[in-house]
Amino acid sequence: VLLELCQRIYDASWSTALRESQYMFPLVESLHVLSLGASVGLVLWIDLRFIGVALGRRPPGVVIGALRVPMLAGFGLMALTGVMLFCSEAVRLYPSVPFRTKLLLLGVAGLNALAFEWRERTRGRVASSAGAVPGYARTAGWVSLLCWIGVIALGRWTAYGL
Ligand code: HEM
Repeated sequence: VLLELCQRIYDASWSTALRESQYMFPLVESLHVLSLGASVGLVLWIDLRFIGVALGRRPPGVVIGALRVPMLAGFGLMALTGVMLFCSEAVRLYPSVPFRTKLLLLGVAGLNALAFEWRERTRGRVASSAGAVPGYARTAGWVSLLCWIGVIALGRWTAYGL
């Protein structure tokens, strides 16, 4: 059923146009890569704050507050351009192991961030902590960092093979 759906997406006039266009496909792919700076490039600083590598004297709430809007915009553009790229190559990508693994890691990274948000909102004490954050936030930072490194590596693997 999913493969049929991919075939339909692949055959649609708009995705065929994107696939065959000399300029649009590379343009969308470039936007996908450029959005990396605003998405993963910014979340990286939150991860580094949590694992204790950077910005140690700034409360995490201040770091997150400063980055949130451009970071979410970056992830929005990443998702939009990613879905466009997927649609234009749905049949090739459906069985691709690196692509599937990338989506899986994206899901883990998303859930990790949501779980942290939820915990912080219900009994939060990370936002205003001076210096080191509690252990669970440190773990969330490591999980996030490793997931994003994996997503980027798998993205390149999907596009160019090994
Ligand atoms: C923040 C999340 C994401 C990151 C960090 C990411 C990263 C990357 C990277 C580094 C590439 C290689 C591009 C290149 O070197 O030219 C890539 C390609 C690709 N991404 Fe993403 N991506 C993300 C989200 C998504 C999403 C949500 C989708 C779709 C559901 C997606 C679909 C694709 C596709 C289809 C390609 C391959 C294009 C081709 O075959 O040339 N990406 N991604």
